[in-house]
Amino acid sequence: MPTSAIINVMTQAARYAGRRLARDFGEVEQLQVSVKGPSDFVSAADRRAEEIIHDELAKARPNYGFLMEERGTVEGKDPTHRWIVDPLDGTTNFLHGIPLFCTSIALERNGEIVAGIIYNPVSDELFTAERGQGAHLNEKRIRVATRSSLENCVIATGVPHRGRGNHDIFLSECRAMMSRAAGIRRTGSAALDLAWVAAGRFDGYWERGLAAWDIAAGIIVVREAGGFVSDLDTRKPPLDTGDIVAGNERILNEIRNIANSAAKKES
Ligand code: IPD
Ligand code: CA
Ligand code: CA
Repeated sequence: MPTSAIINVMTQAARYAGRRLARDFGEVEQLQVSVKGPSDFVSAADRRAEEIIHDELAKARPNYGFLMEERGTVEGKDPTHRWIVDPLDGTTNFLHGIPLFCTSIALERNGEIVAGIIYNPVSDELFTAERGQGAHLNEKRIRVATRSSLENCVIATGVPHRGRGNHDIFLSECRAMMSRAAGIRRTGSAALDLAWVAAGRFDGYWERGLAAWDIAAGIIVVREAGGFVSDLDTRKPPLDTGDIVAGNERILNEIRNIANSAAKKES
């Protein structure tokens, strides 16, 4: 299938940023042993990647607006289009020399996500999706897994950590999930979690307290792979609430039920 102009623009921006991130990632390993540690360097790498993406996208579509993790909202002359960008998703992995991180770019048109890409420069895996065109991994069509019983499923999640999220709700959700699923995984990148659900590597995924840039591209990649995405407790869009569950329809409902009763028990 020929790639569309918009996916080409997004891919080019992600590949340029990815090349730079991969080079900086090599440096991080050297800095692990230095007294100061790599954290200032990683913040600079994050900002540099965002700048590359911003400049590439602005060159190709000068009137579109942005929502970016570092810069926040940048209004465009065209109020109907907005890029939603996380230049580096999986920062903690990057900082610790763990090669599991990516760039995530989505395009929103009139409030709806119409295209998304997620690029892992270390594995050179590019996940792409455009509305109505299916989802692809390096140009090969991908689909969500069809397992229907949680006991055979590997489910990804995000673990709240120091200063983040409701630990009691998470522990209660996790306890219930542990006794039902074949395995639970934590990659440290919400965008990759969603991309891997789309590719059928994970059967499902849930996480609370995310930002729009963590999940905007992943949402369309999962949906175009035939999967379902929703908020955990309400019918509101997960992009607005930041609480998300994904999988095939059946597994999504199972995870949702587990999360709902765990949250009720803890409130
Ligand atoms: C984080 C990752 C992680 C999720 C965190 C996010 P960052 O994004 O997506 O998987 O659990 O909540 O903040 O900080 O690496 O861009
Ligand atoms: Ca992120
Ligand atoms: Ca980030």
